[in-house]
Amino acid sequence: MLPNQLNMTEKNGTIRTLTVDIGGSGVKAMILDKAGNPLTERSRVETPQPPKPDAIIEAITHLATEQGEFERVSVGFPGVVTNGVTKTAVNLDPDWIGLDLATKLSERLGKPVRVANDADIQGYGAISGKGVELVITLGTGFGSALFVEGKLVPNLEAGHHPFRKKDTYEEQLGRVALEKVGKKKWNSRVKKAIASLEHLFNYDCLYIGGGEAKKINFELPHNVKIVPNVNGLLGGIALWKE
Ligand code: BGC
Repeated sequence: MLPNQLNMTEKNGTIRTLTVDIGGSGVKAMILDKAGNPLTERSRVETPQPPKPDAIIEAITHLATEQGEFERVSVGFPGVVTNGVTKTAVNLDPDWIGLDLATKLSERLGKPVRVANDADIQGYGAISGKGVELVITLGTGFGSALFVEGKLVPNLEAGHHPFRKKDTYEEQLGRVALEKVGKKKWNSRVKKAIASLEHLFNYDCLYIGGGEAKKINFELPHNVKIVPNVNGLLGGIALWKE
């Protein structure tokens, strides 16, 4: 998107949302119009190491400058989030626990900021709003979000729940496991996870997002769909729907 096109958008009175996805391997951002359509190309930087709050806030500030002008910010965070405060951060750093990310980032960017769990945001970008819809994300970690008639059931953390062989879903299906056991074994685990989650939730539809979802190489049941990872950014608009 060219800067002059952005100015036109502003003149037309559209509120632009900078949407950010904090991941274990990359931090991504793009700007959305009021209806949630992208106004810019997605940009990405590697997640700083160690992934401490100040370094990631710095990375977001850099992405924000690169993206252009916006009026408000949505952030997807890889842990439990309550009222803008990050409560867990298994794949980042313990310094995130209890941090008021919404306030801190808002002070830094000078704009209102809303923060939600990354899988919840993936879900908002994917669901139809009908029946019981489960979302899982396969990336560095294992994300999960449950929706009933489009309403989020908060704080579902299936990733850290026992799955098989004394391992959790995340231990069997996260990126570390994928790299350790390879695609073939990982795919057979994904198949077993789908069966296990179907028995547990009896969902109408399961959506699978996250950066590794594209590595699934078997035929999925009719009520299971792979969704593009960009949904983790597009879903950010939902945080501003009253
Ligand atoms: C976290 C979840 C997050 C998922 C994907 C898990 O380790 O506990 O909150 O959604 O990783 O990033």
